[in-house]
Amino acid sequence: MEDHLAVKMSAEEAKAFIEKLKAEGLLTEENRIVWEMIVPERLKRMYDVLNRRTRYITVLTEGVDDPHNQSAVLRTAEAFGLQDVFVVTGKAPFRPNKFVTRNADKWLTVHQKPDIETAIKDLQARGYQVFASYLGEGTIPLQEIDLSKPTALLFGNEHSGVSEEAIRLADGKFIIPMQGFVQSFNISVAAALSLYDVTERARKIAGERYYLTLEEKKEIYEKWMMDTLNPRVRKMIETGVIS
Ligand SMILES: C[S@@+](CC[C@H](N)C(=O)[O-])C[C@H]1O[C@@H](n2cnc3c(N)ncnc32)[C@H](O)[C@@H]1O
Repeated sequence: MEDHLAVKMSAEEAKAFIEKLKAEGLLTEENRIVWEMIVPERLKRMYDVLNRRTRYITVLTEGVDDPHNQSAVLRTAEAFGLQDVFVVTGKAPFRPNKFVTRNADKWLTVHQKPDIETAIKDLQARGYQVFASYLGEGTIPLQEIDLSKPTALLFGNEHSGVSEEAIRLADGKFIIPMQGFVQSFNISVAAALSLYDVTERARKIAGERYYLTLEEKKEIYEKWMMDTLNPRVRKMIETGVIS
């Protein structure tokens, strides 16, 4: 997280803000040991991001092998406020590059799935419609995806695209219309263009459903607070050395 984005608070503002978070149940007696170690400005920055987080839109990548592309998708997903990213690896392991992610993965919940069938069925069981990005026949333009339901967008391998199995299991196929000579976008560019469109539209369509529930917020905020601590201090709390 970029701390220069945190706005300095006066002592009164900080006190009022802490009281507000206690009233909302995000700061409790149980996690006092953690939040007392974090400056209020940082708590506020995490709180503001938390309140814009969504699980209404998610991303699934299939066989994206280049670590730079893996990382760029994570960074883009985080920047657009997604909480979850689903990953099915291809030939290469899932090893995002820290210089490209800018630690975006620290704030995300990354779900690695063993194969594309498990991933798509898992998403559908969670209530998502899965739309595969596809360059072949039978697609609708990105802008026409109906976002009245939670939606997962699937992106494929740099060379072979999404698999036939994925196309068969998905609920729909979409394309980002192209006007030039090249036949496709880079995967991370395609993900960025698509997420910009669907997050803008879904935020308006879904209303409160777009945002996290209070229970989800509590869980994620607690994790973010722990993750923001110095790793040695975190370990001491986790092992009960500090309590
Ligand atoms: C370089 S493309 C793969 C090209 C591959 N030859 C194919 O036919 O799918 C990598 C990924 O980027 C996404 N992509 C690229 N261009 C796209 C477009 N115009 N519309 C939707 N997705 C696109 C898709 O997820 C695709 O699997």
